Amino acid sequence: MTSIPVKTLPSGKALPVVGFGTWSLDDEDVREVLPVALNHGYTHVDTAEGYRNEGAIGDVLSGYDRENLVLTSKVLPSNLHYEGVLRSLSASLKALGVDALDLYLIHWPNPTVSLRETMQALERAYAEGMVRNVGVSNFSAYHLRFARKIADVPIAVNQFECHPWYVRQDLVDYCHEHDIVVEAAAPLARGAVLDDPVVTDVADAHDVMPAQVVLRWAVEQGIVVLPQSTTPDHIRANLGLFDWSLDPEAVDRLDDLDRGENVYDLDLDDPIYGIPA
Ligand SMILES: NC(=O)c1ccc[n+]([C@@H]2O[C@H](COP(=O)([O-])OP(=O)(O)OC[C@H]3O[C@@H](n4cnc5c(N)ncnc54)[C@H](OP(=O)(O)O)[C@@H]3O)[C@@H](O)[C@H]2O)c1
Repeated sequence: MTSIPVKTLPSGKALPVVGFGTWSLDDEDVREVLPVALNHGYTHVDTAEGYRNEGAIGDVLSGYDRENLVLTSKVLPSNLHYEGVLRSLSASLKALGVDALDLYLIHWPNPTVSLRETMQALERAYAEGMVRNVGVSNFSAYHLRFARKIADVPIAVNQFECHPWYVRQDLVDYCHEHDIVVEAAAPLARGAVLDDPVVTDVADAHDVMPAQVVLRWAVEQGIVVLPQSTTPDHIRANLGLFDWSLDPEAVDRLDDLDRGENVYDLDLDDPIYGIPA
């Protein structure tokens, strides 16, 4: 089975640099593909209350050794008030069938809720052992500066969109300077970047798949990747990153692809986010 390099979280827990993303997996998908991933060696699973699949993930995980797994969930921006965070966390723990999460992230900032209030709830959850590490998602460096200023717990992770078409190098650098692990959401740009001629050319030259090129490029920069897949061959391939490396010229060509083009954003009209009309 593939040995996956790790980052160490503030709690001391090892975070594998490849995790399994589950954003658009419904319950049926989860029951079908999560066991494929776990049986192939993934031990890091990324979900969120907003993905509405925590119950199915919990059912699958009940058949595996919890201690070997690293489990992340996230609280929606509509639930960032003190009681809301604790309510959401309890629901996630129950659905996932665990006593604690390894990582619990603020899914998106919400400017109408005091970050201090949200952090106080997360600090309580941390103190009571319900979350082992606290992090954020879709935070800019601006948001992170405030979060770091007020939080009594380390900000372990910032999860945001990052791939060769949308690098956000300043944000990556800021996180790394402050020991915040960067997790790349949509590391394959939802598939869009895989047809880029530079990516396919580099893949041919290294005799690997385009997705492996894109994931390896991120991992070589110290970024954790969370590819999602429902295709068993892809699930396996996305872990096949550690017995080869990109040559320096290929890295330069991939670095040059940045065009500030993102593939996801908040859906302002989805009631789940609680964003006013
Ligand atoms: N925090 C946030 O706000 C946020 C936002 C977005 C995503 N995320 C996290 O990041 C995870 C990944 O993002 P994502 O699901 O949006 O997109 P993604 O992982 O960038 O792309 C998924 C797409 O890539 C394809 N794919 C995967 N492996 C492949 C391979 N080896 N070769 C060819 N195609 C491949 C998949 O198709 P197949 O199914 O056919 O393989 C699917 O269409 C999410 O599941 C979620 O956990 C977080």
